[in-house]
Amino acid sequence: MKKFTNVTDIGNLQAALKEAMEVKKNPFAHQHLGKNKTIILLFFNSSLRTRLSSQKAAMNLGMNVMVLDINQGAWKLETEHGVVMDGDKPEHILEAIPVIGSYCDMIGVRSFAQFTNRDEDYQEKVIQQFIELSGVPVISLESSAGHPLQAFADVITIEEHKSVKRPKVVLTWAPHPRVLPQAVANSFSQWTQAAGYDVVITHPKGYELAPEYVGNARVEYDQEKAFEGADFVYAKNWSAYHDYGKILSEDRSWTVDEAKMALTNNAHFMHCLPVRRNMIVSDAVIEGPRSLVIPEAANRVVSAQVVMKRILESL
Ligand code: CP
Repeated sequence: MKKFTNVTDIGNLQAALKEAMEVKKNPFAHQHLGKNKTIILLFFNSSLRTRLSSQKAAMNLGMNVMVLDINQGAWKLETEHGVVMDGDKPEHILEAIPVIGSYCDMIGVRSFAQFTNRDEDYQEKVIQQFIELSGVPVISLESSAGHPLQAFADVITIEEHKSVKRPKVVLTWAPHPRVLPQAVANSFSQWTQAAGYDVVITHPKGYELAPEYVGNARVEYDQEKAFEGADFVYAKNWSAYHDYGKILSEDRSWTVDEAKMALTNNAHFMHCLPVRRNMIVSDAVIEGPRSLVIPEAANRVVSAQVVMKRILESL
C-alpha cells in the first residue's frame, strides 16, 4: 500500500476486516516489520484519538514515532504557490514536505477543510502535495473531505456488534454550535456502503452530502422515520456541502435521545468523538448500555495498525 486516503486504497474490505480482527487478537505479532522504521505524524489541527491511536499502532508495530504540531512549535507553512512570502508564514510547504519525507519511512497528515473554497477543499490540496512531494507513503489522519481511519474503525466496530448479516445503519445529522466539515459523514457513508450495509442518511433539507459520498444510500428527511428498525445509529454534525460551510439549522429536535432510540431495533449508538453532549446526543443515550463510543475509539488503534502494517509490508 503506497497511500491511504480513501476506501479504495484498502482494496478488498472483507479481507481488511479479517486482518483487523487478527491484528486486534495479536497486536504485537508484527513488531519485526517496524524495526528501524520511522513514522512522522503531522497535525495541522487538534486531535486526541487520532494522535494517540496512531502512535499506539505504530509502537505496536515496533516503529519509531515522531509527532509534530504544525502551527505550534514548527514554522507556519505557506501552502499557496506564487505568493510573495512577506506575511507570518516563513516556510513554504514545497520545501517542508520533502524535508519531512527525508526523515521518515511514512507520514500521517491531518489537515481539515479551510471552508474558503469548496473545490480546493474537495481536491484535498494539502494531502495531495504530501503524496506528490514527500517520497514516502502517506496516511490521511483526516483531510478536508474524508476521515478513512475513523470509518474503517467504525466498520470494524459494527462487524463486532452486528446480529444480522446486513444491518440497517443510520447516519443522522445532529445540531452543533460550530461549523464542522463533512469529512466523517462522507467517509462513514462510503465505508458502510462498501461493507454492504443497508445505509440510510437523515438530515434537515439543505445538508445533503456530496453526491459521490451519498452513493446508493437512501436519504430520508424525517429523522424518526429513518430510525425505524435501525440496528446502528451514527450521529454526526456537518455543515452544508452545497451552501458550502454554512450552518442552516440548529434545530435541537434532531438531538439523539432515548425517545428516538426507542424507535429503532434496539440500535447501538455510535459517534466518532469528541461529542457535544445534549446537543448531538443525550447523556442517557451516550452513557447507556447500547453506546459503542468507547469500543469504537479503541478500534482506532486497530484500523491504523492494519494500514501501517500494509505499508510496512510494501516498503
Ligand atoms: N475521532 C477523532 O478523529 O478524534 P480526534 O479528533 O480526537 O482525533
